[in-house]
Amino acid sequence: MADKILVRLTVNGAAREGHCEERTLLADFLRETLGLTGTHVGCEHGICGACTILFNGEAARSCIMLAVQADGAELTTVEGLATDGALHPLQEAFREYHGLQCGFCTPGMLMTALDLLRTNPHPTDVEIREGISAVLCRCTGYQGIMNAVRAASGRPPAKGHA
Ligand code: FES
Ligand code: FES
Repeated sequence: MADKILVRLTVNGAAREGHCEERTLLADFLRETLGLTGTHVGCEHGICGACTILFNGEAARSCIMLAVQADGAELTTVEGLATDGALHPLQEAFREYHGLQCGFCTPGMLMTALDLLRTNPHPTDVEIREGISAVLCRCTGYQGIMNAVRAASGRPPAKGHA
């Protein structure tokens, strides 16, 4: 392990640690070293948002950060949303309002929506669209996601959509 660096951090409330190279991306560290494969990797260029996690409470793209930058940080990944087998209300809303199809973008979309609702608990439709525009979805056409986020913020889905 002489050429590897020890990274200690908190993930989903639990102390975790692992060794990695200086150049190891945080997304790869989460998936391959810590086994948290819920965080997806798409473009690896900071564009698609699939790798979004919460880093010290704020949404961040884990594909454009180094794992060593996360030493001492507090992270939340999609695995941290459900508690005791019960889905997080935002996950429930995505399920109820068809906010996902293939599910590839979903971890990043959930973490992004979570951050949006943390900073703006009652977003307008425009604010939701702007917020989730940070993540690319190739399946849903976004309306189901819009409705899910609306529902999670306490508003009914838009008329004419399930
Ligand atoms: S995989 Fe990180 S933004 Fe696309
Ligand atoms: S649900 Fe397939 S990419 Fe969004």
